[in-house]
Amino acid sequence: MSFAVGADAYDRFMGRYSVGLTAQLADLAGVTAGQRALDVGCGPGALTRELVARLGSDHVAAADPSESFVAAARERNPGVDVRLAPAEALTFDDDAFDATLAQLVVHFMKEPVAGLREMARVTRPGGVVAASVWDHAGARGPLGVFWQAVHELDTTARDESDLAGAREGHLAELFGAAGLREIEQTVHSSRVEHPSFEEWWEPFTFGVGPAGAYVSALAADQSDRLRARCQSLLPAPPFTVTARAWAVRGTV
Ligand SMILES: C[S@@+](CC[C@H](N)C(=O)[O-])C[C@H]1O[C@@H](n2cnc3c(N)ncnc32)[C@H](O)[C@@H]1O
Repeated sequence: MSFAVGADAYDRFMGRYSVGLTAQLADLAGVTAGQRALDVGCGPGALTRELVARLGSDHVAAADPSESFVAAARERNPGVDVRLAPAEALTFDDDAFDATLAQLVVHFMKEPVAGLREMARVTRPGGVVAASVWDHAGARGPLGVFWQAVHELDTTARDESDLAGAREGHLAELFGAAGLREIEQTVHSSRVEHPSFEEWWEPFTFGVGPAGAYVSALAADQSDRLRARCQSLLPAPPFTVTARAWAVRGTV
């Protein structure tokens, strides 16, 4: 499982982009003081931290199926009720939250509609479910250059563009199928400056997510070729990657 990795590896690979999305998703969900909120697929807890800043740790809960991420989220967000659970089987009561959020998670759910239904179940009537997924299909996520290089060298490789919610309109469709109402779609973005090519590339070798799993399975010479192709596609450092995600909110 490609998320059974240390929190530091995640921070350096995907966390560097995901942290820039947290306030945007919390704003989209309308998270304000006095509410109770749940972070589903919390990873090491970047969005959890944003929710704690707005609501206080006693008003925030989180869940993730990765043991290493649950441990990190607990350590980084003391006082938050962080549970080991997938979205499809949340261990929280019905109507427990005003807002339930999932940042960069729906595309990894085994059953995305069931996961969103569970998110709605634990949210009170009139409350909000919100989620974001990188625009992998539009090659506007943070891994666009990586997957372009992969495809040039390996036409049979499977990228992340066909995952749930990663193409325009699909995340909103999933929200509809899960029974959510008043569905709105928007785009969130995150900008990260990379001081060197090595700082950009090295985290791909940490085995995080589908891209990390792909690199881990390569022989050394294949990995070297991919690295070189990525370097030729990217601008000279320092360079900035702007990553965009589809973001959707719906009312329970
Ligand atoms: C790209 S990370 C996002 C982490 C965090 N939300 C963030 O924005 O940094 C994807 C997360 O989804 C979790 N995940 C995978 N399958 C899941 C499922 N079925 N239900 C909930 N979370 C899941 C992984 O363990 C991982 O923490």
